[in-house]
Amino acid sequence: MLKQVQFQGQCWNAVVAGEGEPILLVHGFPLDHSMWQHQIEFLSRGYQVIAPDLTGFGSSQECGGPTLTMAQMAVDLNHFLDAISVNQPITYCGLSMGGYIGWEFVTRFRSRVRRLVQCDTRAGADSPETARARQMAASQVLDQGSKELLDNMIVKLFAPSTATRQPALVDQTREVMRQTSVQTVAAALLGMAEREDFTKRLPALDVPSLLVCGTLDVISLPAEMKQIANAMPNATYVEILEAGHMAPLENPAAFHQCIDDFFRR
Ligand code: MLT
Repeated sequence: MLKQVQFQGQCWNAVVAGEGEPILLVHGFPLDHSMWQHQIEFLSRGYQVIAPDLTGFGSSQECGGPTLTMAQMAVDLNHFLDAISVNQPITYCGLSMGGYIGWEFVTRFRSRVRRLVQCDTRAGADSPETARARQMAASQVLDQGSKELLDNMIVKLFAPSTATRQPALVDQTREVMRQTSVQTVAAALLGMAEREDFTKRLPALDVPSLLVCGTLDVISLPAEMKQIANAMPNATYVEILEAGHMAPLENPAAFHQCIDDFFRR
């Protein structure tokens, strides 16, 4: 199931499981393919599920450069799909940073995308203050390590009920975050800080889309995701109860139900 995929001088680790229409699962920051563990199991019964670790994350090779832009990761995903011979249009499913990359991917490679599922993400760019804070955090991580940043982040990722009922899930996620090198954390922070604003392009994005957000997400707010769906001509918005920013991981049953409904439409 786990593969090493070489393309354009890079080496990525990826899960490729099941057969049928391809579904690409793109993780958030600073995570890896394991955040999709429930979806890999569920969706691989009827689809080809592809869940890579992006450059520098999980077991994929480091980028070596100072910045990992969302545009570059979208271009990398395109080469990666070629390298594993995916020829059919895909369902692109991204969470948070995976969603930022999703806007780039669908804009650049529209004919490759049959459906778009954007989870717990935003379409706007960072405000100047947020971008500056990310740039400062990137320098701090390189100087002092990522512990403080990750400790502050982990408490915002999950709904309080998830932290109480599924503490092992929180521990597992913390461990994945800790394993991410400071170079990758800093490079992705800088990449997110300079990402483009896609809000003006949403009315032209005609791809059938599902926008999903945990009701208790404090990072990507439900009201903002609803606005994104309203701005798109062919999008549906669904909220996942009992879930925060990691909705597909926290409440997989509800997430799978809305994916099923969307695919049947
Ligand atoms: C993520 O989950 O990928 C991050 O929260 C995205 C961000 O920091 O904007």
